[in-house]
Amino acid sequence: MKQPVIGVIGGSGLYEIEGLTDVSEVVLETPFGDPSDAYITGTLDGVRMIFLPRHGRGHRLLPSEVNYRANIYGMKTLGVESIISVSAVGSMKEEIVPGDIVIPDQYVDRTHGKRASTFFGHGIVGHVQFADPVCNELSSVLVAAAQKVGATVHQGGTYVCIEGPTFSTRAESNLYRSWGVDIIGMTNLPEARLAREAEICYGTVALATDYDCWHDSHDDVSVEAVIAIIQQNVATAKNIISTAAMMLAGQSEPKNCACSEALKFAIMTKKEM
Ligand code: ADE
Repeated sequence: MKQPVIGVIGGSGLYEIEGLTDVSEVVLETPFGDPSDAYITGTLDGVRMIFLPRHGRGHRLLPSEVNYRANIYGMKTLGVESIISVSAVGSMKEEIVPGDIVIPDQYVDRTHGKRASTFFGHGIVGHVQFADPVCNELSSVLVAAAQKVGATVHQGGTYVCIEGPTFSTRAESNLYRSWGVDIIGMTNLPEARLAREAEICYGTVALATDYDCWHDSHDDVSVEAVIAIIQQNVATAKNIISTAAMMLAGQSEPKNCACSEALKFAIMTKKEM
């Protein structure tokens, strides 16, 4: 079996993967501009890993400033077939307790349309299927990995992606709850779209850090509270990544998902004769 190349996009608090050997930094320029930082490439117990801190080292980029197209283009250029996206999120449900892990399977877009989140345009028209926006196979591995390391993990759920950088108003938070969403964050939807267009499997490991601002008996979300929960749980997130990487590398069956064929019937523009 061909060995997988696994990409990891680290969110707030995850700026490196531990235990990588043969580490090198790859600085890429892309037709879409510069990625968030240099890609860190290396090997984890024999598995080829490519890591990118979403907000750059030192956390310099707002969610709206992240160059999602360049980030995903770079992953594709480096041969990545599966992206594990790690993100801190707010919990929109009582039963998702800060410190829990959620592996969402749906997203709702509440960004303001400012983020470039398609590779199409400029003469090439394509419409990819996005009804199921994550790779179900990869997500099942992420759930199994989270269970294996002893995390409390919720399988499935809807992630509402807001523009930020402010957190939501209480009215917005309650509105999103009335829509039935499970978690709230600021980054994952453009990544999931672009990964699909790039025919890369994509799955999210979301760490719940707070109850946003809807919960009567919990403080409203603050950066301080988010960082405190991240610090307590970053080791778990890293364990999930390395366990998932081993599981993906150990799979004996070929992949059964359609992610690598997302463009098969998607492009409407006629090929040049
Ligand atoms: N990231 C962590 N907590 C969040 C929240 N409550 N809203 C948006 N993004 C978040």
